[in-house]
Amino acid sequence: MPFTRRQVIAGLAGLGVAGLGAGGVRYWLGRSSGPGHDYQLIAAPLDVELVAGHATPAWAYGGQVPGLELRCRQGERLRVRLINQLSEPTTIHWHGIRLPIEMDGVPYVSQLPVLPGEYFDYSFVVQDAGTFWYHPHLSSSEQLGRGLVGPLIVEEREPAGFLHERTLALKTWAVDEQGAFSAFSVPREAARGGTPGRLSTVNGEHAARIELPAGQVVRLRLINLDSTVTYRLNLPGAEARIYALDGQPVTPRQLGKDYWLGPGMRLDLALKVPAAGIELALRNGPLRLATLVSQASVEPVADWPPALPANPLAEPDLAVAETLRFNFEWAAALSENLDQGAAYKLWQINGQAWDIADKTCADRPIARLQLGRHYIFELRNMTQYQHPIHLHGMAFKVLDSDRKTIIPYFTDTYLLGKNERARIALVADNPGIWMFHCHVIDHMETGLMAAIEVA
Ligand code: C2O
Ligand code: CU
Ligand code: CU
Repeated sequence: MPFTRRQVIAGLAGLGVAGLGAGGVRYWLGRSSGPGHDYQLIAAPLDVELVAGHATPAWAYGGQVPGLELRCRQGERLRVRLINQLSEPTTIHWHGIRLPIEMDGVPYVSQLPVLPGEYFDYSFVVQDAGTFWYHPHLSSSEQLGRGLVGPLIVEEREPAGFLHERTLALKTWAVDEQGAFSAFSVPREAARGGTPGRLSTVNGEHAARIELPAGQVVRLRLINLDSTVTYRLNLPGAEARIYALDGQPVTPRQLGKDYWLGPGMRLDLALKVPAAGIELALRNGPLRLATLVSQASVEPVADWPPALPANPLAEPDLAVAETLRFNFEWAAALSENLDQGAAYKLWQINGQAWDIADKTCADRPIARLQLGRHYIFELRNMTQYQHPIHLHGMAFKVLDSDRKTIIPYFTDTYLLGKNERARIALVADNPGIWMFHCHVIDHMETGLMAAIEVA
């Protein structure tokens, strides 16, 4: 269980890291946010014991993997000082948070990389309550792969009806039996479903046992902070209801057979904890991820809380919306690419592959949206692999799909199945250059990313 700690260090003037980019590169310099911060988050190497008796040379936020759980309240300002004690540049991106572009953590687009020994003050007002997370947006295979991933919990303005909650952060590590890291991204795998790890963990522990109070309704905040794996979540025999998808509240409904939680996605469940002594298996398909253990509790048996209050999201008006099409394709040319050594281009969006080595890609946005206008995106997956499609800066509403029945809902990541077509809609209400990408990290790093401009 990650502990939470709010370090308030008053009186330290925060100076944003300033600098000049290479000629012609467009970015906004993240600005200093004034004195003080709520968290001081150090990114640094840390040996952790994922495999019993063996050390894994992880990289950690706040001395733990997954990283320190950050918390704040809806409507408040969150101020985090990132201190880089790694041997390479990094940034933090706040996944699912609608914030000003200067705080979005994308190198050369929203800020300069934070160099080793430097710090950067992130500061933004959090508009939506819910379950979110944070991670770097630089050397992502390695940085996320080594453990730079952490939960960000935004509490509702008024306490929601849950007296108990647990964060369950899911990650499957690319380590061998001795705890040594294996490759985070292998071209042959990147060209398919992505490079998977092999050691599943919940809150950094394989086969974790998580104690819950008997008879209580507990909010489980499940976060997939893995780079590749889509977890097919199920809880056999449990009384569980879905309260939020990817941070955004939905009308409570039964947890079905398998909920497919793709990389980057979140699921808030209410679980009625059974009588003391009973154990439940949290599973990925048939595989046990963790055991939920019911512990005797003196509190009276609780009932299902009301639905969570909706977040203040702009409702897209489909009658006036303009439709834009996005085709997700496999870029073929695999044999040539695999020998190049440099950045592979295996995937593309509308015929364009993002080049992670080219700092100017964001100067050529794949779409330009007009501030305040309404849009429908037609997403078309022309590949044999699924892609969790994620947009920065704005939430979008999933409308429909040719593969499954959708109850329209807001999210920041939609798991687009093999050969699926789906429609999403949004109001372009946040100016900036926003990344639009697959959250399978090695898909993203081999082409499946684009920039969308809102101005
Ligand atoms: Cu978790 Cu670019 O995002
Ligand atoms: Cu994001
Ligand atoms: Cu993908």
